[in-house]
Amino acid sequence: MKNIGILTSGGDCPGMNAVVRSFVRTCLYNGITPFGIEAGYRGLIDGHIRPLESKDASNLLQRGGTVLRSARCLEFKTKEGQRIALDNISKNNLDGIVVVGGDGSLTGAKVLFEDYNIPVIGIPGSIDNDIYGTDLAVGVDTALNTIVRSVDMLNDTASSHDRTFIVEVMGRHCGYLAITTAVTCGAEAVLIPEVPFNLDDIIKKIKKRYDEGRSRSVVIVAEGAGSAYDFGKAFELIGGFDTRITVLGHLQRGGSPTHYDRLLATRMGLSAVELLMEGTHGVMTGWQSGKIVPVPISEVLSNTKPLDKSLLRMAEIMSR
Ligand code: ADP
Ligand code: F6P
Repeated sequence: MKNIGILTSGGDCPGMNAVVRSFVRTCLYNGITPFGIEAGYRGLIDGHIRPLESKDASNLLQRGGTVLRSARCLEFKTKEGQRIALDNISKNNLDGIVVVGGDGSLTGAKVLFEDYNIPVIGIPGSIDNDIYGTDLAVGVDTALNTIVRSVDMLNDTASSHDRTFIVEVMGRHCGYLAITTAVTCGAEAVLIPEVPFNLDDIIKKIKKRYDEGRSRSVVIVAEGAGSAYDFGKAFELIGGFDTRITVLGHLQRGGSPTHYDRLLATRMGLSAVELLMEGTHGVMTGWQSGKIVPVPISEVLSNTKPLDKSLLRMAEIMSR
């Protein structure tokens, strides 16, 4: 391996820069030239590919977002787009590519590996924590900490006014952020896309808690479970609660990565280069029980990450 490229793709997440830094440093340590590919698969198609130096990795560890930028590039889903990308991989003499991103980005990596024989390593980067084969993806821990800080603040003002707050967190298909923070923020209820819920029962439960003398309620809603605004209307109309809605939105995708995410990102960037060097290709750097485990990307994509039922149980018990 002489030259390896890296791209960050799909929804960005805190820690992507820490992956890039680790990748650059590990390449240089091993006498390999690292290449940065700009804006995900778009950069492969447009030929925006440049060698990176040690100084390009300075001052990156603590920065949110991605200095390589990210993109959702529909052209790469077409054979024509892929052919142009392949020409650029060859023109730049890239011997391997590291892809950092979510399920969609890993699907692009699978195409490069399986259809065009390009040595590829995937690194899971997405705040949703919906990627099979890894206990945590890069960015999840930071997003969780952002949510916890925000809900703690909302709890303060909710208590002062005896209010009910509905807090919408990200997660289109996956309730991991919602269910986990429901436990760690002491929410009264949590609504996630994976589990059916009965709004009337939730309203009754909250009413009972107010009747028992509690001063506030917080309900966490994963964006995929339905509209926080519709839930809010039902809470006011049926429950008669003084309700406020907070949608945390893209706040959850930004910010300086936590210690945990910096370490995870550093481990994964390093492993990705080492796996390519030893000839292991087409795998994702999974984080399982405190170890990096190479998981075939095809296996990652053909499975759905199961919901941790113990979290559901914990949220239910703690909100009684
Ligand atoms: P994420 O990686 O966060 O899940 P997306 O689903 O938007 O984000 O995917 C990111 C990018 O990955 C897409 O814009 C596209 O460039 C690439 N990609 C996604 N699906 C495919 C596919 N089936 N074939 C080739 N590339 C894909
Ligand atoms: O997949 C990450 C994610 O942040 C989801 O939680 C969210 O639904 C989506 O991306 C938002 O996408 P966009 O940045 O394109 O609005």
